[in-house]
Amino acid sequence: MAQSLTKLAFLCCFCLSTLLFSHASDSILPHQSLPDGKLVVSSNGAFEMGFFSPDNSKNRFFGIWYKIISTGTVVWVAKRDSPLNDTSGALTLTQDGNLIVLNTTNGNDFWSSRSNNTTNNQNPVAQLLESGNLVIRDANDENPGNYLWQSFDHPSDTALPGMKMGKNLVNGLDRVLQSWKTSDDPSTGNYSFLLDSHGFPQLFLMGSGSVERFRSGPWNGERFSGAPGLKENPIYTFEFVFNQEEIYYTFRLINSSVFSRLVLSPTGILQRFSWNYRSQDWTTLINAPADNCDNYGICYGYGICDISINPVCSCLDKFKPQKEKDWASAVWSGGCERKTPLNCKNDGFVRYSGVKLPDTRNSWYNQSMKLEECEKMCMKDCSCMAYANIDIRGKGNGCLLWFEDLMDIKNLASSGRMVKIIRVCLTLLAVILLLGLILTLYAWKKKHKKHKEDTQRQQELTREGTLGGSSGHTHGVESNTNDVELPLFDLATILDGMLQGQEIAMKRLSKYSTQGLDEFKNEVLLIAKLQHRNLVRLLGCCIDGEEKMLIYEFMPNNSLETFIFDENQRKLLDWPSRFRIINGIARGLLYLHQDSRLRIIHRDLKAGNILLDEGMNPKISDFGMARSFGGSVTEANTRRVVGTYGYMSPEYAVDGNFSVKSDVFSFGVLVLEIISGTRNRGFFHPDHHHNLIGHAWILHNEGRSLELIDTHLNKSIHLSEILRCIHVGLLCLQQSPEDRPSMSNVVLMLGSDGALPHPKEPGFFTARNLFYEGETLSSKPTESSGNELSITIMEAR
Ligand SMILES: *[C@@H]1O[C@H](CO)[C@@H](O)[C@H](O)[C@H]1NC(C)=O
Ligand SMILES: *[C@@H]1O[C@H](CO)[C@@H](O)[C@H](O)[C@H]1NC(C)=O
Ligand SMILES: *[C@@H]1O[C@H](CO)[C@@H](O)[C@H](O)[C@H]1NC(C)=O
Ligand SMILES: *[C@@H]1O[C@H](CO)[C@@H](O)[C@H](O)[C@H]1NC(C)=O
Ligand SMILES: *[C@@H]1O[C@H](CO)[C@@H](O)[C@H](O)[C@H]1NC(C)=O
Ligand SMILES: *[C@@H]1O[C@H](CO)[C@@H](O)[C@H](O)[C@H]1NC(C)=O
Ligand SMILES: *[C@@H]1O[C@H](CO)[C@@H](O)[C@H](O)[C@H]1NC(C)=O
Repeated sequence: MAQSLTKLAFLCCFCLSTLLFSHASDSILPHQSLPDGKLVVSSNGAFEMGFFSPDNSKNRFFGIWYKIISTGTVVWVAKRDSPLNDTSGALTLTQDGNLIVLNTTNGNDFWSSRSNNTTNNQNPVAQLLESGNLVIRDANDENPGNYLWQSFDHPSDTALPGMKMGKNLVNGLDRVLQSWKTSDDPSTGNYSFLLDSHGFPQLFLMGSGSVERFRSGPWNGERFSGAPGLKENPIYTFEFVFNQEEIYYTFRLINSSVFSRLVLSPTGILQRFSWNYRSQDWTTLINAPADNCDNYGICYGYGICDISINPVCSCLDKFKPQKEKDWASAVWSGGCERKTPLNCKNDGFVRYSGVKLPDTRNSWYNQSMKLEECEKMCMKDCSCMAYANIDIRGKGNGCLLWFEDLMDIKNLASSGRMVKIIRVCLTLLAVILLLGLILTLYAWKKKHKKHKEDTQRQQELTREGTLGGSSGHTHGVESNTNDVELPLFDLATILDGMLQGQEIAMKRLSKYSTQGLDEFKNEVLLIAKLQHRNLVRLLGCCIDGEEKMLIYEFMPNNSLETFIFDENQRKLLDWPSRFRIINGIARGLLYLHQDSRLRIIHRDLKAGNILLDEGMNPKISDFGMARSFGGSVTEANTRRVVGTYGYMSPEYAVDGNFSVKSDVFSFGVLVLEIISGTRNRGFFHPDHHHNLIGHAWILHNEGRSLELIDTHLNKSIHLSEILRCIHVGLLCLQQSPEDRPSMSNVVLMLGSDGALPHPKEPGFFTARNLFYEGETLSSKPTESSGNELSITIMEAR
């Protein structure tokens, strides 16, 4: 938003009755004139006002901008929708206290502050205050804070410290931020940021046609429920005032020479900037909307959005998608509906903590009620859908009741200590009845389900074989302890299937494996139970004499490797996709390490083992097979190191010690590779001999992490998110396994915005390190992949 403030020569054609204004002062007195080319400066030197032309524009506007900042950041514009297209403007103050911009060519008013209410004023003065507020007041008024008019009441796209955003309920004044049309056209753009006082007040970012884009959520005594990024900080304080006369949000600088402003960008993003003296530039502190879940009502009624899950939308407890099919393809319209309708006699509530409260425009509230009264009140009224306390401080006071569909709920649980309660009615009675019914049907169902699924799977998996003319011979592998069944195919069927181009992926295990047949089956069953959206699914297996094979679902987009390291493919992966991939891998790994019944250490996490489905969702493949086939999973040392150069942690590569933390290290490498689009191994930099890890470490220590980012990402980046990922990546790469976070911590850190610990020096950050002890390293046999199927040959012991 750099505006060049061309100072044009003053054309003296309208100075007959006006005294020439001397600009040593920050004020304008009646009959003084401020012509184009002359400027008024606030007494602290921070702000300046006068006529300006935005970049690439000949139009002239009267406005206020930062003076300290050489590029001139405009904060206020008078009559933004109709520019003076020549230099014929001049600002004057009339005797009755009205600021006007005159068209000096014809002497007509071009703009007027229309500050009425000036009849009694004997001595009006217009002054540019240190805050950047242009005010008109009566110099005779004992209270200098009585303004006849102030620019802070008529904001453009910028909120400055001390400005009130919101409503004066007494005189009806409404202060709304409205975006510029483009960065060089101050006329009213498509977006506005305003206070909506329907129900319990909230701030809204609206798009064109009054479409909601982002909602702050109600104020909870400490901050807005849906803006966890707004918190105590060293730059500014903030408050929300809500009383009979006024409802507004405002902020103040802690150190008045550290500048901060809130701007609604022409593209509809609310941004908080802070002036960075060192880089002489504005730094973005907060963006809203910040992520997909901030988009208003993305999951529709009774849906809840969680940015750390993929897909992001799910239904509240006791609710199900209204259109199951649409939801399956990530179209959330319709939202969720109750599984069991309310009967309004025996309803109960489900409790939710750490969520952005639903839209309160249709809510009812009482700020002094206790939570118990609140629950009773909601229970009494059949149309009450949920209740919550308003103020989270202390014991939690106040009562909010919702009477319509619950909209725009976001899961913030990962962002820490904020605890809020939503309770949703459910029918206890009906649930009990249903439970009985389910129980009586259970045994019957179980039998039939088993039978049905068996047949279904057989049909699916042998379809190609049957088409090929050979009848697929299958039978299920069963185990006494579980209900997972895994089809066992014979080799002929599989080969036939492959010839027909069936989309499966196969993995052939070494015939020299010493594992017995029963052991193999049991292991396969265990692996088959690993079901997670970020793991490739095992469909079946095949045993033919000595041959043992695993059959996986086929991933059409191949692996991450083919994307991030390819000059052209890389462009297809914007930052949101990459962030989703990083999160997906983290969750898949967390599942392997912690959530699955087996504790599985992958040991060979790398870009080539992250497969991508049609929606570019990451799926970890090749998971820990070698380890779980080979013997006890808790074993922490191996004679034969299996892995890939560039991803292996020092303790594993050198000593053969492995643990979940070796996977965490590999994950750290992946994160850096995804962000930079370069391989760790083979990384080259003219300035040093380090690999990608070392390069990232140097940049991080010098505060230059931005330089690590893939240049193809420029348009889509979300700076704080990327920097956070790099930071988390470096934490995963620390030399000592004990220092590295667990995957559950990694998932938490990626999803929140709390402070992160400082990373210690990473392991293996010099490329040369990789080659000492090279003798003991043996990389995994290479993979070969084709278009229709990929076969990996793997060593198993
Ligand atoms: C100023 O007055 C002149 C003469 O009447 C007119 O041509 C011009 O359009 C006016 N400028 C604006 C911005 O209204
Ligand atoms: C200036 O604006 C006026 C009306 O706003 C218009 O009639 C005139 O043509 C414009 N002049 C130039 C040079 O654009
Ligand atoms: C200012 O006063 C005039 C009459 O003196 C009236 O027509 C106009 O509507 C008033 N403007 C405002 C903003 O109250
Ligand atoms: C007029 O000015 C007085 C004080 O100067 C203020 O209290 C009052 O609210 C103003 N009235 C209007 C309608 O703005
Ligand atoms: C503003 O909205 C209009 C109509 O919806 C659209 O054509 C235009 O591109 C939008 N402008 C911006 C900057 O988004
Ligand atoms: C305020 O910030 C300025 C510039 O960074 C600094 O020089 C000054 O010491 C700060 N004042 C206080 C009271 O912290
Ligand atoms: C709010 O609740 C308090 C305590 O229950 C009650 O005394 C008060 O009348 C209520 N106010 C409204 C407006 O309902």
